[in-house]
Amino acid sequence: MKVKVEPEQLLASMTYAEKLAQLQIVWRPDSGESGNLARTGAGALFWPASAQATNALQRIAVEESRHGIPLLIGLDVVHGQFTIFPTPLAQAASFDPEVARADARLSAKEARSNGVNWTFSPMIDVSRDPRWGRVVEGFGEDPYLNAVFGEAKIRGYQGDDLSSEASMAACAKHFVGYSAAEGGRDYNTTDISLQRLRNVYLEPFRVAVAAGVASLMASFNAVSGVPMHANREMLTDVLKNEWGHGGIVVADAGGVGELVDHGIAADAADAGRLALSAGLDVEMGGSLLSDGEPIIREDLLDSARLDDAVLRVLRLKQALGLFDNPYVDESTAATGPDETSLSAARDTAARCAVLLKNDDGVLPLKPRGQRVLVVGPYAESKDHLGAWVQYFASPTTTSIAESLTEALPGSVVTTLPGATFFGSNPSRQAEAAAAAAAAAAEADLVIVAVGEPSDLSGEASSRSSLNLPGDQEQLIRAIAGSGTPFAVVLMTGRPLVVSEWIDQCPALLVAWHLGTEAGKAISDVLTGAVNPGGKLPMSFPRSVGQVPIYYNHESTGRPARIGGSLAHERPDVGLTGPNNTDDYYKSKYLDLELGPQFGFGHGLSYTSFELESSTDQALSATLDELRAGSRITFSTIVRNTGRRDGDEVVQLYVSDPLASVTRPVRQLRGFTRVFVPAGEERRVSLTISLDDLGFWTNDHHAGYIVEPGEFQVGIGNGLTSQDFSLTVTPRSP
Ligand code: BGC
Repeated sequence: MKVKVEPEQLLASMTYAEKLAQLQIVWRPDSGESGNLARTGAGALFWPASAQATNALQRIAVEESRHGIPLLIGLDVVHGQFTIFPTPLAQAASFDPEVARADARLSAKEARSNGVNWTFSPMIDVSRDPRWGRVVEGFGEDPYLNAVFGEAKIRGYQGDDLSSEASMAACAKHFVGYSAAEGGRDYNTTDISLQRLRNVYLEPFRVAVAAGVASLMASFNAVSGVPMHANREMLTDVLKNEWGHGGIVVADAGGVGELVDHGIAADAADAGRLALSAGLDVEMGGSLLSDGEPIIREDLLDSARLDDAVLRVLRLKQALGLFDNPYVDESTAATGPDETSLSAARDTAARCAVLLKNDDGVLPLKPRGQRVLVVGPYAESKDHLGAWVQYFASPTTTSIAESLTEALPGSVVTTLPGATFFGSNPSRQAEAAAAAAAAAAEADLVIVAVGEPSDLSGEASSRSSLNLPGDQEQLIRAIAGSGTPFAVVLMTGRPLVVSEWIDQCPALLVAWHLGTEAGKAISDVLTGAVNPGGKLPMSFPRSVGQVPIYYNHESTGRPARIGGSLAHERPDVGLTGPNNTDDYYKSKYLDLELGPQFGFGHGLSYTSFELESSTDQALSATLDELRAGSRITFSTIVRNTGRRDGDEVVQLYVSDPLASVTRPVRQLRGFTRVFVPAGEERRVSLTISLDDLGFWTNDHHAGYIVEPGEFQVGIGNGLTSQDFSLTVTPRSP
């Protein structure tokens, strides 16, 4: 008979060394080593790549270690285990949190069936510098979008019950400020004001903790000079005490040892002591033991802090149901995608595509009777999986050319074999571009499939240039010279600079890295089987020199105006010349037009929409009502004025033009993606509450405040906006 063991009881019988052993996830050990570690009571291991191997290690931990404590089994399941979904940045472009939830549910099912019970995902680092390769892993430049998508992922992974065979513990990362790396260079120094820290970088994590995330990962950077792996103020005061996080804080790989490189720890033992004392619970990528012996002197660690860390680990194991059943059913473990996961991967991928330009209705492709040429490195490539996949991920099933051939039986789809355009031999590339142009002249329409290979984004993959790599821009210009209409399909892990060719290019579809079913999903969008409805979660800059550029910057003293309007008020004006600003002494570049090339929230459709407000343009509320939980509703009618059914994303932005600190010019605080059949209309209502009107002050004790006054609320679709005013008074007169 099984005796029920409580974490507290276990803790009481553990030695100092056994406690420390629970506090480490062992970094990709080889198989023999894993067995020994499980036997000596290790807390967590990386997934050993099969259900059988996981069961074998759990059996050693349960049957051969002194306390029989099962193992946490961790893995980065970021956008899929076997079935690969769109990258997180692509998912954010769907503006449909259901996309993230579906990925997380299906990924959790595949992973947990194989014994993975802990994923190091989601990444909710607000990312405003596309040079930083890790922008691909998060949800873009907006704190609210990161919070909403992060929460959807966490709920998807964890479900209602962590012990279910389709759930695993999530890990919100990287806590906090990692994405602010100077120069966009991964692992570089960060310097973040308290305003930005509280209102931008911490916000998605605060929401993740409120949603019950099981763990958070410390980040590699320092905040105010204190590296996060030893930052007691953030790990303990804010995260655990202020927010009440009851789960684990895990190190990033090697992050504890790097306290030595940061220059705040003398050696590994000192680093471990600093990290645990600051509130870190689990070490990753290093070790707190050497040959089974603790490296930190016992009297140097507060025993209550140590016990707290161990209890957090044991309680997570308990919540995951591991004490009751540490094993998985090997006969039903997933070994690859199935019909359900592939169909979800295809549907979600198509929802992430963003149509940035479509002059003269070049897209969608006509159903028959066309000669369609598909060129560029992505015509036949299957490199669509994105940056965070493991070697066992299921490859992309079909290329764009293959999918289009299948989808357009009444047309002739051809490719140009052999042209890669990633090369550096100028004469060969010029020759290839000329051949492509000649073939284009014989076609009715050309699809130019270009982009960044998956491995140009992700960890340690910062770029100083945001142009298309290789000679792909030369290819686009050559096709433009052929006179044949064409559309560029852009595969990418980050916003790119497209300014050198966008004016010559009639249509641009951003297809990110869309995963296992990317080819089919892209073909669905190109043929119009799916009408694109995504919007940009990150601005596309005009030049790398503008970076960081993001829509929700704070008001400045000298904003540039074009014809009387601020750039952010007229996203439709955009492209006026640099010297068209109304006044010279304003914030601008002498050699660049104002604003991004394509801004946050922008995205077109094959149909057209009109928005018409259907609520009073002037609303009011009292602070008392808002504190009591009342919500203010803004409604709009979305009319599909075109000839195709389609999706529109209605976005709600709040601004606070007069406050005691400088506030962002506007902030996304609500959105909904709505399907509207051709010729029909739908009413969309979005609400805001107290949480949408205030900000965190510079005074830790004052916390979050809402200042009464006039607020502006804009409801729009990234192109047009209707403005409402909201008056908040302290109380009813
Ligand atoms: C990354 C983390 C990741 C960890 C484990 C680190 O290098 O920064 O995001 O979870 O590796 O794979």
